[in-house]
Amino acid sequence: MSNPVNSKKRGRINVVLNHKPIEKMGKNESLFQTELEKEEHDILTRFEEKLEEYVGLEEVKGLVNEIYAWIYINQRREELGLKASKQVLHMIFKGNPGTGKTTVARIIADFLHQMGVLAKGHFMEVERADLVGEYIGHTAQKTREVLKKASGGVLFVDEAYSLARGGEKDFGKEAIDTLVKAMEDHQHDFVLILAGYSKEMEYFLSLNPGLPSRFPIAIDFPNYTTDQLMEMVRRMLAEREYELTTDGEIHIRDHIRKIRYEQERTFSNGRYIRNIIEEAIRMQAVRLLRENAYDRQSLLTMKREDFKFHSSHVKLN
Ligand SMILES: Nc1ncnc2c1ncn2[C@@H]1O[C@H](COP(=O)(O)OP(=O)(O)OP(=O)(O)O)[C@@H](O)[C@H]1O
Ligand SMILES: [Mg+2]
Repeated sequence: MSNPVNSKKRGRINVVLNHKPIEKMGKNESLFQTELEKEEHDILTRFEEKLEEYVGLEEVKGLVNEIYAWIYINQRREELGLKASKQVLHMIFKGNPGTGKTTVARIIADFLHQMGVLAKGHFMEVERADLVGEYIGHTAQKTREVLKKASGGVLFVDEAYSLARGGEKDFGKEAIDTLVKAMEDHQHDFVLILAGYSKEMEYFLSLNPGLPSRFPIAIDFPNYTTDQLMEMVRRMLAEREYELTTDGEIHIRDHIRKIRYEQERTFSNGRYIRNIIEEAIRMQAVRLLRENAYDRQSLLTMKREDFKFHSSHVKLN
């Protein structure tokens, strides 16, 4: 069978998908098992591998499977003269800082492009200030310009709830209306992703009753557990060719446990981990210079004392 992307161009997506994660699938379970199947479905295989680089994100992995299966089956249906449905793929991403929302949105943009759903598949991240203007009419104009640039790709609105900040009189409302209009306008083939903290996003959606149904896909990005954050530490260090001592590992685990609890809502999850790794790399470098130790093992080894959690504790969160 042909690769879904190489065969004819798919229609644009416009009908509602009642998204539910594939609950029955086990964790990390691929739709395909044999090498032949994986080769046949190489786009899905590639994206599964890409997502496997990240810890958790089970819901996203399920969604990618669903979208792939839907497009693939649509093609098979078209080949037999059956109707091929269209779907709305606008999404809401809810989660705290550093839980992977931007990372996932970028991957999804690329995936939808590879699958022929989006013409360009580029990723455009904006926030309130990029959409909202200063006088009547200015907002619609600014938002329309952004929409034009995002056409064919993914438009990602971070902290989207801030569009509702000032209530009815605020220009944010105009930005929302312009976005909604564009979503219904068939000329704009783009996927809109609204992202932000869970509570704020829920409040925002409750204020705009017309909105939730326009975003049939809602993904929660929960805070990572201490084990998942430790797994990130391991992966990030391995990727950068460092080895962590057991003592170092215990030290980091204790710290993460504490800081997750202390910072609760503001804890920046994956970003925090990346920051402490980068800080530790600098600390280790300073230590090695001081020790005058440049042998292979010294260069590889990351010790307890390299993790001071100074700057990452205060500035970098
Ligand atoms: N599941 C994960 N596995 C590995 N690394 C991750 C994971 N989630 C996030 N990260 C890392 O954490 C950092 C922050 O992720 P990202 O920018 O996607 O978060 P975000 O949810 O968009 O945050 P914010 O709401 O603050 O914009 C990135 O370096 C990313 O690679
Ligand atoms: Mg982000």
